[in-house]
Amino acid sequence: MSSSVSPFTALALAEQQLSTLDAALLRRRLKQTQSPCDVEVKVAGRLLKAFCSNDYLGFANHPQLIAAMAEGAAQYGVGSGASHLISGHSLAHDLLEAELARTQQKHIDDARALFFCTGYLANITAITALAGLGLHATNHNTGISIYSAQLNHASLIDGVKLAAAQTKAAVYLFDHTNLAHLKEMLRADSSAHKLIVTDGVFSMDGDLAPVADLLTIAEAHDALLIVDDAHGFGVLGKYGHGILEYFQIQSNRIVYIGTLGKAAGVSGAFVCAHKTLMECLIQKGRPYIYSTATPPAIAHTVLASLHLIEGEEGQARRAHLDQLIAIWHQELQLEHWQISSSMTPIQPLVLGSNAVALLASKRLDEAGYWIPAIRPPTVPEGSARLRITFSANHSIEAVRELIFELQKIEASVHTYSETKTV
Ligand SMILES: Cc1ncc(COP(=O)(O)O)c(C=O)c1O
Repeated sequence: MSSSVSPFTALALAEQQLSTLDAALLRRRLKQTQSPCDVEVKVAGRLLKAFCSNDYLGFANHPQLIAAMAEGAAQYGVGSGASHLISGHSLAHDLLEAELARTQQKHIDDARALFFCTGYLANITAITALAGLGLHATNHNTGISIYSAQLNHASLIDGVKLAAAQTKAAVYLFDHTNLAHLKEMLRADSSAHKLIVTDGVFSMDGDLAPVADLLTIAEAHDALLIVDDAHGFGVLGKYGHGILEYFQIQSNRIVYIGTLGKAAGVSGAFVCAHKTLMECLIQKGRPYIYSTATPPAIAHTVLASLHLIEGEEGQARRAHLDQLIAIWHQELQLEHWQISSSMTPIQPLVLGSNAVALLASKRLDEAGYWIPAIRPPTVPEGSARLRITFSANHSIEAVRELIFELQKIEASVHTYSETKTV
């Protein structure tokens, strides 16, 4: 602490918290990029090969989307000026929302979509507003239950916590790879209103939620099924419409959430569900009601991205991603580290301790790669990992070079972890 600052309790507590994070190797550091998001990024003056963004289709720096952003700004200005329900809802938002709803219309009857500033906000809004419906239950049963997949993203976890605080809902966790426990819990549940909440593609593992089975369970127990397809929208399905397209699922009890800052390459998210549920989100979704609408220029850019996703270019990029993933599985050979069976662009290597994951990430950095170590609480204790992600802008050669580098690094990091207490 600088001697010119007079100490006060919060500062002392903050210092204590930071030292605890340092001791557990859990302190995170910001890295400044000095070039656009792409497969090669300038970081602190060095050009690194990046395998860590969620820009799966390589759209974040796409010339057509850069042009759409400029066009949107020229047409709509740079700010929305107010929340949607005051005066911030523009033509650009409506055009985008109609098109987003169209992407799910084969899967959700009477689908309506709403555009949000971020996926975090979309998740908090959807879960709190939809859990809140249970406060109006008039049948003889009362109570609200929320079933949340154990490995759900932090934004779903926070949405569930907030909904539980607001509605006194009971919260139950389930393992998405073994649904017997979920069924058992639901059988014993007589509450009036139930939600099942899951990631579509699990963000740190890359595996898919068993959405068809979850839907069958939701139907059997009259529950709503909320699917956060942040990492599936743009990536899964012939047209990139996401996990419902991929599994060919149709139901009006699904609430679908897609994000637009990952494969779509821009920013924001959307919630799509039956129009009556969506109307309740507009009326009761506090984060939606009380935050400034996303700049319409962003909505205009996302609309352009949506057309790229669905069109020939998107289809070709998804085919290329599939090729990269196949090469990864065919050619990567590791002696000590477990290769994930994920068939999405998210390919984690779970290394265990924070120290080993940090060391592997450092060795990769020395070799010119940017692949951060992902540690708790983002992943469960003892499962620190390298979260390797592919973009359609990666070449086959680039993936082969990474495979070669990882095989080298594995040996040296493993020797270190065998000889040191980490
Ligand atoms: C599964 C999942 N849901 C939601 C989000 C949040 O989306 P956003 O970054 O748009 O807030 C993320 C972001 O990483 C995510 O991985």
